Amino acid sequence: MKQFNTIKKTTDYIDQKKANGYSIGFVPTMGALHEGHLELMRKAKMENDVLVVSVFVNPKQFDNPEDLKKYPRDLSKDIRLLRQVGCDVLFAPEVAEMYPKQEDIQYDFGKLETVMEGASRKGHFNGVAIVVRKLFDIVKPHNAYFGEKDFQQLAIIQALVSQTNQPVHIIPCPIVRESDGLAMSSRNVRLTQGEREIAPFIYETLQKAKDKILELNPGELKKWVANEFDKKEAFKLDYFEIADGTYLQPVNSWEQDKSTIGFIAVFLGKVRLIDNIRFI
Ligand code: PAJ
Repeated sequence: MKQFNTIKKTTDYIDQKKANGYSIGFVPTMGALHEGHLELMRKAKMENDVLVVSVFVNPKQFDNPEDLKKYPRDLSKDIRLLRQVGCDVLFAPEVAEMYPKQEDIQYDFGKLETVMEGASRKGHFNGVAIVVRKLFDIVKPHNAYFGEKDFQQLAIIQALVSQTNQPVHIIPCPIVRESDGLAMSSRNVRLTQGEREIAPFIYETLQKAKDKILELNPGELKKWVANEFDKKEAFKLDYFEIADGTYLQPVNSWEQDKSTIGFIAVFLGKVRLIDNIRFI
């Protein structure tokens, strides 16, 4: 595995591979890798000649300095895992390499960024778009892989690619869960043992909600979910929203053939977790 921390070395190496006709599959990450990340990488490895992974905790996408400070980092463990999945190139830059000067590009994703994560975390998606565009410019992948765990992020990336005409194919990948249902996340390691034990309640509630779509309309279902979380002291619901799967706008009724998804963000102690489930 080649390991680079400068943009120049990374582009030189990848440009040469591309000149030789190799296809490039790319998985951007913030490290603290887990099975969810590794599944994206296995798929990318299978579908491309060269697998490139970036590990970069992007300060621009954190609205909360405490969250940035506490974000788990373990590059030597990440490197071991990357070798296991057959990663060919690791790009792990320092902040100064990615942001040598002040940048204030402002993207406009319209209604896509005014809901859910966009509403709860001001500036978050603009920060994601800035770094992903930069990473795409550096890696110039044929295919880039993103998890449906961050469903809204995936929609933002698709909008970014179409706005900026980048010649990359975005491949969505399903959510990977622990055996008890908890969606894998780098933030899960910040849960205390007690919190970790009760964390599966989030996905259990989403599944129960799905069982109720024949008896409750979306408004009633939102109330039902909020009430379930009210009963549990350890959890603080940030939002539960029911939205269409394309524009991510709230829906008021169930419509057959219209992709409809339940999105949740919830604090468990100090850790904010997100998850989603397809209803239709
Ligand atoms: P990070 O949270 O490290 O996630 C990297 C990729 O792994 C994202 O596409 C995310 O959706 C996917 N992923 C994480 N957990 C997953 C799970 N349980 N199942 C399936 N996929 C999962 O998302 C980011 O980093 C950053 O915002 C980034 C895109 C790298 C830009 O900084």
